[in-house]
Amino acid sequence: MRTTSPRRGRMHRAVSLLATAGLVATTALVLAGPAQAGTTLGQSAAERGRYFGVAIAAGRMSDATYMGIVDREFDSVVAENEMKMDATEPNRNQFNFTNGDRIVSYALGKGKKVRGHTLGWHAQQPGWMQNMSGQSLRDAFLNHVTQVAAHYRGKIHSWDVVNEAFADDGRGSRRDSNLQRTGNDWIEAAFRAARAADPGAKLCYNDYNTDGVNAKSTGVYNMVRDFKSRGVPIDCVGFQSHLGTTVPADYQANLQRFADLGVDVQITELDIQQGSNQANAYRQVTQACLAVSRCTGITVWGVRDTDSWRTGANPLLFDGAGNKKAAYTAVLDALNAGGGNDGGGATTVDTSAWYVLVNRNSGKALDVYNLSTADGADIVQWARNNGNQQQWQFVSSGNGTYRLRSRLSSKVLDVSSWSTANGAEVVQWPDTNGANQQWSVSIANGYASLVNRNSGKALEVQGASVADGGNVVQYTAWNGANQQWQLVRVG
Ligand code: G3I
Repeated sequence: MRTTSPRRGRMHRAVSLLATAGLVATTALVLAGPAQAGTTLGQSAAERGRYFGVAIAAGRMSDATYMGIVDREFDSVVAENEMKMDATEPNRNQFNFTNGDRIVSYALGKGKKVRGHTLGWHAQQPGWMQNMSGQSLRDAFLNHVTQVAAHYRGKIHSWDVVNEAFADDGRGSRRDSNLQRTGNDWIEAAFRAARAADPGAKLCYNDYNTDGVNAKSTGVYNMVRDFKSRGVPIDCVGFQSHLGTTVPADYQANLQRFADLGVDVQITELDIQQGSNQANAYRQVTQACLAVSRCTGITVWGVRDTDSWRTGANPLLFDGAGNKKAAYTAVLDALNAGGGNDGGGATTVDTSAWYVLVNRNSGKALDVYNLSTADGADIVQWARNNGNQQQWQFVSSGNGTYRLRSRLSSKVLDVSSWSTANGAEVVQWPDTNGANQQWSVSIANGYASLVNRNSGKALEVQGASVADGGNVVQYTAWNGANQQWQLVRVG
């Protein structure tokens, strides 16, 4: 619930002139995006034919905040550690599925999908396996693959059959490991064993630092191409996407080149270093997946920043208290937007629709402060909640401009007192179709700028604030991110 604390107690007076309404044509009936925007990651991804998953830890399943987020937001889960080799076969031929089963039965009980991670890996091997080599290791390894895949048969939508088998040597070589030393065919042998044990699961190869086009990803690409040409049962490639502050420029192109080999692609362990570009980078990854038809889903590697393996990087979608971050809003909006690669949001306005206007800089929504229906009530930004105080309809003024009508109050955005000054207050006021209520809307790269007809100034979040209650004013148009708004259709 919003509070009344952070605001000025100012009275706003909009001078209303000449109700020249009449003859308002409803035009521009093109829209982008699904008919209804989802309000959770899983729901919105499902509307785009994808899943949105999360890595969870059995040890945190008694944390109510954590599980509340998992329950609400995600439609797929993966065990962060509990289905790895050391967890599932701590002693040779003695399997322990306790924690893995907990995660799987929780997920299936809630109607969520499960990714399996991971049957084969050079790391997290149980001690007994680390000391093995040659044919006995090969036999023990394939037995592990068979036993674990068979235990979960029918419950896993995609298995990481082999994880991180390529080196970071700039040449695209296989990584040296005890498994690799059993023979270069150890990977395909694992895929064949997994297929035999669970014919219904999609079988993936999964790796990191393969997110752009580079020597390592090309090494994986060549292996997948070879597997496809020889009928080795591979269905998908996972791109972990543990990213720094930026997304490789060829991220989407890299996904696409794998998809073109005839496999699905999945973003499997997404987390992105905190910083001013974090929300944008999350948006770019989401859009890239949406733009590649064989990209079937995204998984983030943890729930809250405090749950992440990347201590101090704050790389996830929820903060330590479980609040949605700007990165969350960026992902949700990208999922709800129509295009795959246009920055998201509508590309023209539909005068019969209701939109939430999300500020590009802050990720927050244009909002009638404190649910007011009064004349002169202030317009601010607030964390997006899709409430009626955040929903706006474009009403054509018949001259190429629009008023923005609040679903809550039926009043329209108005530059207070017909001011033409920088920083002048934007309020709500009864619809008079005055020029101070008319806004030209130009949309580029998925973001709209709104320029007032009377003043020629742009609607912006003052001072590029990212805070709840940040003031919305007019200011000379300079195309700053705080002057750009994503139009997210919600009704
Ligand atoms: O639970 C024990 C604890 O009892 C013990 O005191 C402590 C001592 O170090 O270790 C704890 O286990 C740790 C475990 O995470 C649970 O927190 C392990 O040491 C630690 O190695 C393990 O790290 C995991 C890492 O994989 C290695 O398996 C991370 O949680 C997990 O996020 C990370 O995930 C990997 C993916 O599987 C593959 N891709 C990269 C990704 C990030 O490294």
